[in-house]
Amino acid sequence: MSLFLPDIDKLVFREFPPFTHPFLKDVFKDKKFLGRKKANFLLNRLEMKTRRSRMISYPYYLVIDPTNICNLKCPLCPTWQDLKARPKGMMTRETFRKIFEEVGPYVFAINLCNWGEPLLNPDIGGIIKYAKSFNTVVGLSTNLNSLADEKAQEIVDSGIDILVVSLDGDSQESYGKYRVGGDFGNVMDNLKKLISLRKDGNHPLLVWQFLVNKHNESEIEKAKERARQLGMLFMPSPMRTSMGKELLLPLFERVKDVEEWLPLNPRYNRYNYTITPETRTRQITCNWLWKAMVINWDGSVSPCCGVFEKKWDFEACCSAEGKNPTIREVWNSHRYRLARKLISAHMKKSKNLPPLLQLAKKEGLICAQCIKYGFLEE
Ligand SMILES: C[S@@+](CC[C@H](N)C(=O)[O-])C[C@H]1O[C@@H](n2cnc3c(N)ncnc32)[C@H](O)[C@@H]1O
Ligand code: SF4
Ligand code: SF4
Repeated sequence: MSLFLPDIDKLVFREFPPFTHPFLKDVFKDKKFLGRKKANFLLNRLEMKTRRSRMISYPYYLVIDPTNICNLKCPLCPTWQDLKARPKGMMTRETFRKIFEEVGPYVFAINLCNWGEPLLNPDIGGIIKYAKSFNTVVGLSTNLNSLADEKAQEIVDSGIDILVVSLDGDSQESYGKYRVGGDFGNVMDNLKKLISLRKDGNHPLLVWQFLVNKHNESEIEKAKERARQLGMLFMPSPMRTSMGKELLLPLFERVKDVEEWLPLNPRYNRYNYTITPETRTRQITCNWLWKAMVINWDGSVSPCCGVFEKKWDFEACCSAEGKNPTIREVWNSHRYRLARKLISAHMKKSKNLPPLLQLAKKEGLICAQCIKYGFLEE
């Protein structure tokens, strides 16, 4: 037993980025739910490897969107561009509770954001607190433009582990190019509020995420130094092409679309290789359908975090509209299983692929489009 368990720990750590590891260590120190989380993880790995379509295990990672409403207009984000693709709203604490009381005991980490500004949700503190009671790493990404004093206190008190702050520049001029409607000075003030309230000076971890583009690449070093002074982890990251189109258009067209944004420094350009009309993404498979679940504010479930339009969703869980399937029922619903069968057949180059593809297209599964262009890149 003692020879076996450390290897599970290593496998779990390998699944998450290094900056989450100190918090994962805390999850491993606290025995609450740990046995269930580890057993579920092992079973999940086995089911993913064998590409099972009906799952016994639960996902071990969740993306839950507290809201798809936002106060900014970032040019490559569909949240403000496409107001009809998905109704707008806020997740209630009750919906979150229903989801998490079933799946929380099995989950190692949760990202509380997807298509909106999570701190706008009035219940966000309570949601985080409830998630933390299941011995789970909790993080979110925020533009941090709106943070009243009480909210700052509530966020720190909630026990959240990681706050990624989207701060693409070291001046209003460069920052405002992508974060349209955002105020650099305001974000700095809000950051200082959080820093002054942090427990033991380092909880939550504050990450300065700097999406590198043509307009801000000259400020990377200045921002890095400022992050150091503030005690933040600096993370310059390459930009993606238009986020609502990643699964629906070939890479060639998407990259052409965003030429004005991509940085000149190839180190920060995700697409720094030759791209022809035939080029697929460098991702060779998709594990989303096995290891993770993406839940929108209203309990609707999407195949992965790149799916923006509601028409591609699987069945909804915990919806307020009478039907109220459990997470397990949704996880093994017809469309979810069909999507898994499709990806599995694609990977195995199975002779069942053509009929499955035909059926998946008929049933409106985005995964049938996505395999044409390459999968969602990590
Ligand atoms: C859609 S946002 C939602 C959270 C929050 N509103 C924010 O911007 O941090 C989720 C993540 O996508 C990132 N993002 C936005 N535009 C991006 C792009 N073009 N390429 C890569 N990441 C992007 C944001 O910085 C954030 O970390
Ligand atoms: S990237 Fe975040 S801040 Fe920008 S519009 Fe989208 S949801 Fe809002
Ligand atoms: S196959 Fe594509 S659309 Fe489907 S879950 Fe994977 S990345 Fe998302």
